Amino acid sequence: DEYDELDEAPDGHHGNMEHQRWEKTRLNAAVTKYGARDVKPKKDNYDLITDDDVIEFVQAATRKGTMDDKEMTEQLSAKELKKQSIDEVRKSLPTFAYRQDLLNAIEEHQVIIIEGETGSGKTTQIPQYLYESGYCKGEMKVGCTQPRRVAAMSVAARVAEEMGVKVGAEAGYCIRFEDCTSERTRIKYMTDGMLLREFLTEPDLKGYSVIMIDEAHERTLHTDILFGLVKDIARFRPDLKLLISSATLDAEKFSTFFDDAPIFRIPGRRFPVDIYYTKAPEADYLDACVVSVFQIHLTQPPGDVLIFLTGQEEIETCCEMMQEKARALGSRIRELLILPIYANLPSDMQSKIFEPTPPGARKVVVATNIAETSLTIDGIVYVIDPGFCKQNNYNARTGMESLVVVPCSKQSANQRTGRAGRVGPGKCFRLYTAWAYMNELEDSTTPEIQRTNLANVVLLLKSLGINDLIHFDFMDPPPHETLVLALEQLYALGALNHLGELTKLGRRMAEFPADPMLSKTILASEKYNNFVQHRSLKRARDVRDQLAGLMERVEIEQTSSGGDSAAIRKAITAGFFYHTARLTKSGYRTVKQQQTVHIHPNSSLFEEQPRWMVYHELVFTTKEFMRFGINKIFLRIRMGNSCLVLSFLLGKQLQLQCIEIESGWLLEVAPHYYKSKEIEQESKKMPRKQGKSAAELG
Ligand code: CDP
Ligand code: MG
Repeated sequence: DEYDELDEAPDGHHGNMEHQRWEKTRLNAAVTKYGARDVKPKKDNYDLITDDDVIEFVQAATRKGTMDDKEMTEQLSAKELKKQSIDEVRKSLPTFAYRQDLLNAIEEHQVIIIEGETGSGKTTQIPQYLYESGYCKGEMKVGCTQPRRVAAMSVAARVAEEMGVKVGAEAGYCIRFEDCTSERTRIKYMTDGMLLREFLTEPDLKGYSVIMIDEAHERTLHTDILFGLVKDIARFRPDLKLLISSATLDAEKFSTFFDDAPIFRIPGRRFPVDIYYTKAPEADYLDACVVSVFQIHLTQPPGDVLIFLTGQEEIETCCEMMQEKARALGSRIRELLILPIYANLPSDMQSKIFEPTPPGARKVVVATNIAETSLTIDGIVYVIDPGFCKQNNYNARTGMESLVVVPCSKQSANQRTGRAGRVGPGKCFRLYTAWAYMNELEDSTTPEIQRTNLANVVLLLKSLGINDLIHFDFMDPPPHETLVLALEQLYALGALNHLGELTKLGRRMAEFPADPMLSKTILASEKYNNFVQHRSLKRARDVRDQLAGLMERVEIEQTSSGGDSAAIRKAITAGFFYHTARLTKSGYRTVKQQQTVHIHPNSSLFEEQPRWMVYHELVFTTKEFMRFGINKIFLRIRMGNSCLVLSFLLGKQLQLQCIEIESGWLLEVAPHYYKSKEIEQESKKMPRKQGKSAAELG
């Protein structure tokens, strides 16, 4: 067991020879110093070495035969020879040996928990086995949920390829605002959020013979809600089969929740992975990643590298740093293919990570934790793990949501490590100390339901007729105050009446796959004419089409506001009045909670300091910043290449992170929520600043 090595390394050192060798090469071959950047030597971790040193090292290594050409070519051509037909690949996956046993078990039991190592073939193979053995007779479908969009798209593409059909034919996927399925689709991959929405139109999921809740261990909010819903419908649909599948985690807990459903374990194939820790904490883990990649590239045998970072921006920076470095070294090093993978990457770029590495080259995949368990990239031998991830947190008391980079859990760290051991023995370089692993990392990640705003989900459940949320069958119930706050917000928005029942507005809001504040904003078009504008939406046509369709469904006629900025901002206020901040003598404070907040210095309103603002969200970085990130909203509405979009709401004000409003609007859009007294008095106190507001300047 690779994790046993921890016991040998209580002081942060790794006991064995291999590790000492690594430490040595690390010191000898470290490739730091990036251009003009001021890099201080990191005494304990990496020595500062110049490009010339690297060239010398490469030349020496080649002379010594560390990177013997012949050896490398031989290894790679052996790999080439192993190129198998799709059929052979399918048969080689661990699930294949259990095909019949698994089908028998599914035949016998209504609910089964399936546990198997990542990459064993659960996601791509099991739905195909079901399809092949008659579970898709007539119009019936096998549905498989994924917490991540990218995973849904990419496995559907893979399965379609294996089945020899186009994506969207027998195998397809459905994610928010993108339905790539057809009449013929029998195996449908979708995000967990998408299946949740299907309950709105098909509460008994009668089109499905099997539902597979995949990646159950991820415990996303939507997956957790699905657990309760599918458990319920399984009771009155005895013909529906339910598969709960996960990486090797939590199976017992799932089994207990699903009335002691049997656990089907698929023994995985896993090669040993050596784990290496740094001796001292890394000051800059991006730097450390780059250094490690080049060390691997220069000193280690063939095999691809996988780096885990926290998000798109970081991934892009890291890729640039590596590319720059690789360019500087030119033909002196072997080809390095640097490939990013994150949720908003265009799909043609996404599929690149699965393409086989050309002989002689080395692939470096820089991923978010999507590559932890959702996606398996063949050929990975080295994993570099800085040990961080991005996590959302919600404080129900202040209503503050934050997205922060936090240390990942031990569970994640071990999954990441496992990625190095699929094709052969691997190595995992953890850019933190063994002490940190043991003392600073939580055992597992807190389920999302316990650290997120629930307004959206509460609205959806209400519209499914589930009124008593306190007694909903949660695997781990959310904190009571979070539920209460969600109900309060929905009440304030007018989505619920004083009995907690859905209003007509609420019913309309629930139709929209967006945050309630945002759906209310959109629905406010009825009154203020804030409809979706076609002009600037070429790339976002699918978003526009779906929203427009939903407007029709809730019987709202669309007319143009004529680009009237005030009307548009009013409509936004109608949805976001809950997020109002006003300028006081001591800076900005949220109106109800009296929380101190700030305009982000990047905002064009930073200098302007308008008296009243609404913001999209509070983001805690170093201060509580108010943001009205239009791009962000549309990241939420439309996945993928979003940036574009929304001149549709604010036209030229796209750059603003929050918007200026007039306090009087609050009384118009939310008279039940704001007293005229508190607003008028406050307005009089503060003399208006000279000059035009940014909003007026456009
Ligand atoms: O779900 P699980 O982690 O058990 O495995 P899987 O996702 O079904 O992957 C099985 C195999 O299919 C692996 O060898 C993957 O590398 C491969 N695969 C692929 O080549 N391309 C994809 N888009 C998805 C999977
Ligand atoms: Mg999977």
